[in-house]
Amino acid sequence: MPVLELVNLSKTFGTKTVVQPTNFSIQKGEVVSVIGPSGAGKSSLLRMINLLEIPSSGQIILDDKPVSYALNRAHQLTFLSKFRLSKFRSKVGMVFQHFNLWEHKTVLDNIIEGPIKVNKKSKREATRHAEELLARVGLLEKKNDYPGMLSGGQQQRVAITRALAMEPSVLLFDEPTSSLDPELVGEVLQMMTKLAEDGMTMIVVTHEMRFARQVSDRVLYMEEGRIVAEGTPEVIFESRDNPRLTRFFSSLHG
Ligand SMILES: Nc1ncnc2c1ncn2[C@@H]1O[C@H](COP(=O)(O)OP(=O)(O)OP(=O)(O)O)[C@@H](O)[C@H]1O
Ligand SMILES: [Mg+2]
Repeated sequence: MPVLELVNLSKTFGTKTVVQPTNFSIQKGEVVSVIGPSGAGKSSLLRMINLLEIPSSGQIILDDKPVSYALNRAHQLTFLSKFRLSKFRSKVGMVFQHFNLWEHKTVLDNIIEGPIKVNKKSKREATRHAEELLARVGLLEKKNDYPGMLSGGQQQRVAITRALAMEPSVLLFDEPTSSLDPELVGEVLQMMTKLAEDGMTMIVVTHEMRFARQVSDRVLYMEEGRIVAEGTPEVIFESRDNPRLTRFFSSLHG
């Protein structure tokens, strides 16, 4: 049974379709990287999975349950109450390029807020779990710091920890290392690699080709709102007969 399934999911802004009707599914424990040129629709696809962007058509099926929502005339989500929306988002964790931590909350408070408010954990239980997760990534001593006191790499690792604390079914990453100084990229990729090895189900939009190649089970190549190639890293990275892929890879090296 797939953890997540997209059925003909599409997104149109005005008259421009930025994600063509897309079908996709991911199995438990699978790691899928999404690559492709700027403007291909990678972020739009990811944001729809989390309902940060409302799909123009199609369906999202999470843990075998169709995600139901409706829009009012102002195109706001209505059918899902705010709580149910946050509950859905807790199952589909998202890690952003710019971390999106709450600056006025400590590391610990950033992590326990969701488990307490959405997952209805007690503060004690949420704190215990958060401390365990922080210890695992060597950030326990930072628990009372504010995000601004941490390096970018540490902030991103806290953001990933915050997503993990919700015990998501699938974790989405949108270029999680793109805003980091080069020397800080490694620690974040290392944490993501460990998560992948531990069996987390992950969809990762990335420009880190080495990560896509070495860590993913499957790679999707998007262009102009479509998945135009899909396969194991070997198939995608060693493809010589797909001119679009060849062009994309040579643009990276140029
Ligand atoms: N809110 C919006 N309104 C109108 N057009 C949008 C909106 N968001 C994205 N687009 C357009 O959708 C297309 C796909 O954008 P998207 O951000 O999904 O691409 P991407 O593959 O993530 O690119 P990048 O690698 O630069 O992050 C682009 O042409 C973009 O201009
Ligand atoms: Mg993007």
